[in-house]
Amino acid sequence: MSTKQTIAQLQSTDRDNVFHPSTHASDHAHGKLPVNIIQSGNGIYIKNQQGTELLDAFAGLYCVNVGYGRTEIADAIYEQAKKLAYYHTYVGHSNEAIIKLSQRIIDWAPDGMRKVYYGLSGSDANETQIKLVRYYQNILGNKSKKKIISRDRGYHGSSIAAGSLTGLNLFHQAFDLPIDGILHTLAPHFYWNAEDGMSETEFSQHCADELEKMILAEGPETVGAFIGEPVMGTGGLIPPPEGYWDAVQKVLRKYEVLLIADEVVCGFGRVGAPFGSHLYDIRPDLITIAKGLTSAYLPLSGVIVGERVWEVIERGSEELGPMGHGWTYSGHPIAAAAALANLDILEREKLTENARDTGSYLQEQFKKSFENHPLVGEVRGVGLLLALEFVADKSKKLRFDATWKVGAKVSAACLEQNLIARAMPNGDILGFAPPLSITRTEVDDIVKRTTKALNSAADLLSKEYSWKG
Ligand SMILES: Cc1ncc(COP(=O)(O)O)c(C=O)c1O
Repeated sequence: MSTKQTIAQLQSTDRDNVFHPSTHASDHAHGKLPVNIIQSGNGIYIKNQQGTELLDAFAGLYCVNVGYGRTEIADAIYEQAKKLAYYHTYVGHSNEAIIKLSQRIIDWAPDGMRKVYYGLSGSDANETQIKLVRYYQNILGNKSKKKIISRDRGYHGSSIAAGSLTGLNLFHQAFDLPIDGILHTLAPHFYWNAEDGMSETEFSQHCADELEKMILAEGPETVGAFIGEPVMGTGGLIPPPEGYWDAVQKVLRKYEVLLIADEVVCGFGRVGAPFGSHLYDIRPDLITIAKGLTSAYLPLSGVIVGERVWEVIERGSEELGPMGHGWTYSGHPIAAAAALANLDILEREKLTENARDTGSYLQEQFKKSFENHPLVGEVRGVGLLLALEFVADKSKKLRFDATWKVGAKVSAACLEQNLIARAMPNGDILGFAPPLSITRTEVDDIVKRTTKALNSAADLLSKEYSWKG
């Protein structure tokens, strides 16, 4: 069989058998959506089965932070699998890799963090967070203080409870979500949500006031925790406005509401600091980690528990015995070995510093190249997270008709340039989050390809809809 036939056969078998996440089921099954089979990866590039090399400017799902093809991590996985592929970590059992990793994570984390609990995905780690909030409040005798406030456009996963924390309709519709006890407050997006004439700090105070109003309306004795990503990710790659985290933390402290920092995207260097919490002076009680912990070479997530919560957990076990929470794969030694090798690379190659320095170069180049482009309403970002937000009319700040699917069209135009940039699921937003190992030359290449893509998408919109820009 020729290679072409083999690829066609695999694509057809995929359409018949694979149930893909976040995918239009019918378009996929009936051939209206291409099946792109990825074969290999090296640095910031991946190759599909046809041999086309694509520049992955989104690092998979902003997770392959050290880049593709790191044999050092593959070797660590192999060595650990040969020595001890698995043993559980229930009832005090442990393994060397997870012990070493936990200490490394505490060293990376902001001050005041005590222990690490392990899972396999950001979603399951946030499920653990919700259970810890309930456990903590129950042990303290705060029987009704269990509600959790999240934010519109926040993303925290797609399981039942973590999916409820997520503030995007796409992840709720037809699933009867969100569940009770989870609320969403204003997204801190200055561009769309600030009133005319507000400064960034005034808008941050406005967000904090809205949060306080919600806590008071619900009753502070019913609100147990607040969860937020230091920089919003899937909801649109939105850095917080000036003073936001300071204003929010004042409110949380006033009403003794726990703070969960969801660092699944921001953690391990992506924002140019070890964690988003370092960058914005956030002092969380609990932290969620995943993605960059292993650079996705194997699935591994975690909940980092701070002093205040840990003390109560210890007290709880004295009262109730062992906590009834755990996954078979918590603390998996092979995933831990992958994480250790990944952290070695991040530290040795100073990739956090590179995310800061090459990240600010990326931000500058994008601002310079696209701020005045007729399609672009806002260029925003921090470190190696960047978004272009497209608008129909820049001066009037008018959105495109959603049925035009402008974000998806621009992302498809990028693909024509063999560039992967992600159409974010909420609005006409194109996201960039390349591996942290990216160089300036590679940034220049991304800018070049994006320029061509934006121009061709603008032409297409003019032709199809007589859009004038
Ligand atoms: C901030 C944040 N939290 C949680 C998750 C969920 O992680 P997972 O997809 O591994 O369940 C994600 C995934 O993108 C995320 O961005």
